[in-house]
This record gives sequence, structure tokens and C-alpha cells, in this order.
Amino acid sequence: MTTVVRYPEGSVLLRSLGRELPVISHGEGIYLFDRDGKRYVDASAGALVVSVGHGNREVADAIHAQLFRVGYVNGTQFTSEPTEALAARLAARVASELPGFGAARSAFLCSGSEAVEAAVKFTRQLWMERGEPARAKVVARVPGYHGNTLYALSASGRPHYRTLYGPLLSAVLATPAPYPYRSGLDDYAKDGAEHYAGLLETLIEKEGPGTIAAFIVEPIIGSSAGAAVPPPGYFERVRKLCDRHGILIIADEVLCGAGRCGAFFASHLASLDPDLIVLGKGLGGGYAPLSALLVKQTHLEEMRRGTGYFQHAQTYLQAPFITAAGLAVLDYFERHDLVRRSARMGARLLDRLSAQLLPLDHVGCVQGLGLLCGVEMVADKSTRAPFARERKVAERLTAHLFERGLIVWPNVGQADGTSGDLFMIGPPLVIGEEQVDDLVDALAQAIKEFRP
Ligand SMILES: Cc1ncc(COP(=O)(O)O)c(C=O)c1O
Repeated sequence: MTTVVRYPEGSVLLRSLGRELPVISHGEGIYLFDRDGKRYVDASAGALVVSVGHGNREVADAIHAQLFRVGYVNGTQFTSEPTEALAARLAARVASELPGFGAARSAFLCSGSEAVEAAVKFTRQLWMERGEPARAKVVARVPGYHGNTLYALSASGRPHYRTLYGPLLSAVLATPAPYPYRSGLDDYAKDGAEHYAGLLETLIEKEGPGTIAAFIVEPIIGSSAGAAVPPPGYFERVRKLCDRHGILIIADEVLCGAGRCGAFFASHLASLDPDLIVLGKGLGGGYAPLSALLVKQTHLEEMRRGTGYFQHAQTYLQAPFITAAGLAVLDYFERHDLVRRSARMGARLLDRLSAQLLPLDHVGCVQGLGLLCGVEMVADKSTRAPFARERKVAERLTAHLFERGLIVWPNVGQADGTSGDLFMIGPPLVIGEEQVDDLVDALAQAIKEFRP
């Protein structure tokens, strides 16, 4: 086998038909190694997934042992030890960080998109059980991202996808998401909550509160706004508003949850009191495709008194091999105190990034929480003008960093829907102090060498 693959070589349906992909050989901690022996610092944990690091033997051994016992059972016919144990562990985490949630019950699926779809369906069914069939609309935020299946994509503020897939997408209502760097407010911290909650209120009143089933949010926004943190008081206002109008809140923590931001639940950090929570990515840590939908037992009780079941299932629902991975990841979190480490290393990362990157010519903003940080690149720092989209700055900068063995996650469009170049840094939560410092030094050096 060769050391790189470029279409039309091989037989894989590659996403990019013009890009060369190195063949990866193995990984260790925060590093990946390709077949040429080149080392990459996985500074984005893949797609913000590899929470417990690459090549984690403790996690791999635990999954291996479960596979020998039983890998798969039909989740509509059986439950299993790892599935029960993982749900109990998540319920305990909810009780300690989000006590307002009450008793939590989890369903396990394979991807963030699937769990987002399940969450939306759950809210819709609940309104049907309650005898309010008119509640069918969902409000999402822009920028925001909730996945790539058709409804999750409909709820994502991604204009370029809308152009392509528009005829296939559902109508989802949109309200602006707090984005500090581009809020246009003189004092985001002081006025942000009232401003953004006010925009949501206007939308709810226009649409008619009795037609809205749910509001879906990322407590800390991931890829589409580069780790944007909400202004103080925002989610408290949103909660009150939604309570007044009976709207359910879905916290999409697929990217920002599972310890990534320095608490197990990002909702805890953002002072959000959600009705449903969706986890993914870091929960399975890349060792199995795993996502979770967490709901309130009180809501399930309403369903029990009504139709008696949640009308949703997929082949791998509650499968033991995926839940064993989640359990092994949580065991590892606990043995190595990874959530607290994420908060500590994250504070160091944000400090270093701010000190070393912000002074650079085209770095407009550095933001984040825990081990989730974002950097926005701009054409003009004084006006915050973005680069023309044709320059493809985010993509070219990411390629430049990749060449130098630094993997970050780019995104575009946060400035006006089309332009805006940012990249995210979110290394595995096992990263150490020296590795944080080396990463930021290398990033700063590489950005200085980059010609936008
Ligand atoms: C916030 C958020 N929600 C949902 C998803 C979709 O997850 P998946 O790609 O596993 O379907 C993502 C993926 O990036 C995400 O960032």
C-alpha cells in the first residue's frame, strides 16, 4: 500500500476528489503517525472526538472484553450490562451538574446527527401526547450546526448546504446566536443577553408560541462560531422565555459536552437548564460511534401514560459494543480526572493563544472555554472585515498547518453566512502542559509564515 491516496487511486469514495490523503499508521496520545513516519499533533482531536487520546489501551481492552461477551443485541428486545451502566453513570453526572433536570434517562445511538433527530422527534411526540398537535416548529440558531442528516442539517445555519440541498430540507426557524466578535454591540457582556433573548422573543411572538415545539442550541457553539461563549444571563432569560411559552429546550452538546469545555456538561458552564441533552463525539472518544439522547424521566412518564412508548428506534439502538466504549471512556475520565484537567489545560491554552496569536497581523479574535478554542482570521483587524471567500483563507491556512504536522479544524461563513474564516483547536483531553505550550509555539510560528 502507498503512503498517500489521491482520487482516483484506491476504491474509497473520498470526500474530496482533489486532495491527497496520508494513510495513517497509528496514534498515541495527542499524536498521529502516517505510513511515512510523519508525526501530526492532533490539535482538533480529529473532529473534536478523541477525548481520551489515540491508542488508549485501557479503553481498547475494555471494549475488547465486551466484544467477547456480546457485541450486539436488538435494543428493542434486550438491554445489557454496559448499556444500563452507562445510562446510570450519565444520570449521576446530570444529578451533580444539572440538578434541575431531575432523573435522566438515556438512549444510545451511533452519531450526533441521529441523536439530534431523535431529540426533535421526542419533543414532537411529547406535544402529541399532550394534545397540542399544532406544536410542530423548531427554532434553531445561526450560526449553529446540528449535523448532516436532513433534519439536523435543516436546523444548521449553513447557507452553502441550503443552496445545494434546499429542496430536500425542512423548514426550521432561525434566530441569531450570540457571537461576541460580531455581535455589533458596544458591550456584549452587559447587553448581549437582553439583545439575543429579545430577538428570540420577537420570533416566537411572530410565529405564535403555540406552534413551537422546541428550541435547539449548542450551549457553547462549536465549529460554526469557533467556541463562542454566550453572554452572562443569556440562557437564564431564554429559559424563562421558553417556560412562559411552553417551549422545550434541546441542548446539543455533541461537540461541547463530555468534558470538552471543562465540565462534563457544557450546559452547566453556560447556566443552561435544558429539557433534553444530546451527547456524541467525545463520549465514545473515537473508539466506537456513540451518541446519547438524555431526557427527563418526567417527560417519559407523560409518554407512559399516553401511547406507552417512544416511537423511535434504529438498528444499533443501545448496542452493547457502543455503550461499552462510552463506559470505558467514562472510567478513564474518572481514573485520570480528565474533566478537571480539561478546565486546567484549557485555561492555559486560551491564555497562551491570546498572548501569542492575538498580536499577529490577521488574527481578529481568540475565544473559548476549556479545551475548546477558536481563532478568527480577518483581512482587516480595525474594521473586522473578513477575507473575500475566494481567497479560501481558512482552508489554505489549515492546509499550511497540516503540512507542518498541526491538525486544526477550519470553518467558514460565520461573518455573513458566506465569508468568515476560523479554525478550532480542541486537542485530546489528555494533553499535558508542555504539549500545550509546544502546540501554541508551533501554531504562532506557522501563522507568521502564512501569506493570506
Ligand atoms: C454541535 C454538533 N451537533 C451535531 C453534530 C453531528 O454529529 P455527527 O457528525 O456525529 O452526526 C455535530 C458534528 O460536528 C456537532 O458539532
